[in-house]
Amino acid sequence: MSGETPQAFAVRSRVLHWVMAAMILAMLAIGMAMVARLGVYHALLAWHRPLGVGILVLAVIRTLNRHFSQLPPFPETMSAAERKMATWSERLMYGLFFAQPLVGWGMLSAGGYPVEMWGAVHLPRILPASPWLYSVLRPLHTVLAYAFMVVVLGHIGAVLYHALVLRDGLLRRMTISAKRARGAEKK
Ligand code: HEM
Repeated sequence: MSGETPQAFAVRSRVLHWVMAAMILAMLAIGMAMVARLGVYHALLAWHRPLGVGILVLAVIRTLNRHFSQLPPFPETMSAAERKMATWSERLMYGLFFAQPLVGWGMLSAGGYPVEMWGAVHLPRILPASPWLYSVLRPLHTVLAYAFMVVVLGHIGAVLYHALVLRDGLLRRMTISAKRARGAEKK
């Protein structure tokens, strides 16, 4: 490997990764608790909407960041098939980072509900009010939530396998204390 090759993700990529991971896990839990009729629906929804829109904003920042960052190569312990799976599951996650918040925002718009952030701050509707659109987007939000859970669990499972069984340093590339080769950032 040349001195130019980074050994870990850029610091800003790692920070974005862990902030978004926490937000997505929180959103999946909040969403499930909302529909579990625990009597705190409105209080949870008040967190769910701005956090979801925050994920959408971070998804844009993260996509730009990824485009302008040089990624560390996959470890040699990963087979060609595993690399392909990792690449495609990452693409799927990036797709969900955009699709799920947009479907949430769209379904509230189509249902004619206010897209409230904090107090008097409301977002504009992104779709016209339409019972038909709402009836499509509401179940789609659930299906995408399940897809998120499956892909996130697969991702965590694969990382744990590398960290605990193969012990190949895969997780260290993403930990906050990871060392990165100098001069590896693309300008
Ligand atoms: C990555 C972002 C998001 C995730 C992971 C997520 C996840 C979830 C989950 C797991 C549920 C429960 C679904 C079910 O079991 O049926 C849910 C419901 C809901 N979500 Fe989201 N959501 C996200 C973004 C948004 C956004 C941006 C909005 C609106 C601006 C939104 C509005 C709602 C509403 C209103 C419900 C409840 C609908 C009902 O009570 O019928 N979500 N979400």
